[in-house]
Amino acid sequence: MLPAAMLCLQRDTDPRWVDAAVEHLDELLADHAHCEMKAASSALSLAARVPDRPTLARALAELAREEIDHYVRVLDELGRRGVALGPPPVDAYAVELRKLANTTAGSPHRPEHALVDRLLVGALIEARSCERFRLLIDALRARGVADLADFYEELLAAEARHYRTFVDLAIEVAAGDEPSVRARLERLSAGEALICARLDNAPVVHG
Ligand SMILES: [Fe+2]
Ligand SMILES: [Fe+2]
Repeated sequence: MLPAAMLCLQRDTDPRWVDAAVEHLDELLADHAHCEMKAASSALSLAARVPDRPTLARALAELAREEIDHYVRVLDELGRRGVALGPPPVDAYAVELRKLANTTAGSPHRPEHALVDRLLVGALIEARSCERFRLLIDALRARGVADLADFYEELLAAEARHYRTFVDLAIEVAAGDEPSVRARLERLSAGEALICARLDNAPVVHG
């Protein structure tokens, strides 16, 4: 199984990332909590931009609700471990990815292109999280950390569903033009692979 390719990702995570992640689980979990909060607030901010599209706004709000649930559950895990959350680290990966969407957005006469890109960036962030959670789950199981592996299995299933939701919503915004959305996803994914290649394998979700 090649999770990266299955999720439209064009580059596998460097194996050194998972080594760092399992060695520094407290740090990873603290960053992960922030990522869930950012996923929720980003979905809500997108929902707020589409008051004329109630179906889209609702789907994004429901997604945000799930991300908040994940956030609370990661906070619970931090609490069990006696780890303080701390301030959010800069998520250079997400910042770079959003910039990429801005620079590849379509004609200013077609504002839906920018919205499609925002949704596809959301899809790519979900996809990368899924790919990394899979690596993490396998490493945790190999080390006998079964409870945390089970927790990440559950989150992986939810984030994979979110990936599909974002792609489906992008297709809906593009008036059902799936080939153009898939082509755009491939273009953004090529940029994501370059961003991923520059990451330093720090023990954070997008490190
Ligand atoms: Fe989540
Ligand atoms: Fe998600």
